[in-house]
Amino acid sequence: MKKTCLVTGCAGFIGSHLAQTLLDEGHAVIGVDNFASGYVHNMEGFKDHADFIFYEKSITEPGLLAQLKKEHSELDIVFQLAAVVSVPYSVEHPELTMQVNFEVNRDMLDAAREMGLSNFVFAGSAAEYGEEERLPVKEEYADDAEQLSPYGVAKYKSSSYIEKSGYGCALRFFNIFGPRQDPTSQYSGVISRFVDFGLAGKNMVIFGDGEQSRDFLYVSDVVISYLIASGLDRDGRGPLTGVYNVGTGKGRSIRELASVVAKLTSAPQEIDFRPERAGDIKHSRADVSKISARGFKAEIAFDEGLARTVEWAGK
Ligand SMILES: NC(=O)c1ccc[n+]([C@@H]2O[C@H](COP(=O)([O-])OP(=O)(O)OC[C@H]3O[C@@H](n4cnc5c(N)ncnc54)[C@H](O)[C@@H]3O)[C@@H](O)[C@H]2O)c1
Repeated sequence: MKKTCLVTGCAGFIGSHLAQTLLDEGHAVIGVDNFASGYVHNMEGFKDHADFIFYEKSITEPGLLAQLKKEHSELDIVFQLAAVVSVPYSVEHPELTMQVNFEVNRDMLDAAREMGLSNFVFAGSAAEYGEEERLPVKEEYADDAEQLSPYGVAKYKSSSYIEKSGYGCALRFFNIFGPRQDPTSQYSGVISRFVDFGLAGKNMVIFGDGEQSRDFLYVSDVVISYLIASGLDRDGRGPLTGVYNVGTGKGRSIRELASVVAKLTSAPQEIDFRPERAGDIKHSRADVSKISARGFKAEIAFDEGLARTVEWAGK
């Protein structure tokens, strides 16, 4: 059945993939973005779609959801992706981060429930676990974690509020990668930076010994987790409530990643090692049993995801 979905952050990396898939599946999308870190060109594939409407607005605008619901009475699902996405920026702007990454979510979740919307899906983060040493990381570990930044604190406050409310769902993403991730941003993930080095024919730069590991998930698999969370995945079990890790459950070392990207871009295999950065977490890997029990499985193999990312970046 055709649903009308609000996607905030639709001009961003993940939001643009989600909006595109929802439209491809026959749903209508109301997009909101203020271009704090997103781009018009990310919406190129769907901005003129008949079932897409875009509002250049901030999610901090009071009463935004009520206003959108008034204009689009069929609005039924909220995908809240808009956020302060940079950890260093959150350290410099803790109040704005708390407003955008927590207070707005709390208020919008309450409003969505009052309006009787079928779900509110929030983009959480592995940063909610701080420096967790128990691996793989289970959802409940966040409850006694010490988050290392205002970004992590605000994301945790949101997902914890959602969990306690018994309405809505928080997906805690680990390291996401794929086309449209912004390599020019100083905050972008290690994969988009490596792809950038590789395409420029430069050596990869690694901070520390490269044995650090992360749980990398390709962006189209993130979209699958969104479909499951919102109940749009056709398995008939309805929307999810509570908190769910989203990852592959496998760790990949940064050194392995550098080697694969260097090969794919025909860049030198030499690596420039730099001193380890203070505060870098050594290993991170999600326990994905909870979302797997609802049918989630990463479909795109790591090397295939990297090949697609390199191909996109090289265009
Ligand atoms: N990329 C990852 O690896 C990753 C990991 C964990 C969590 N997340 C979360 O997923 C979500 C999407 O991240 P992304 O990687 O696509 O980042 P992104 O920066 O590409 O997308 C975020 C989008 O939100 C918009 N935005 C920011 N503040 C806004 C505001 N006040 N009002 C309206 N729009 C606003 C930005 O302009 C941007 O288009 C974020 O909530 C992020 O915290 C991402």
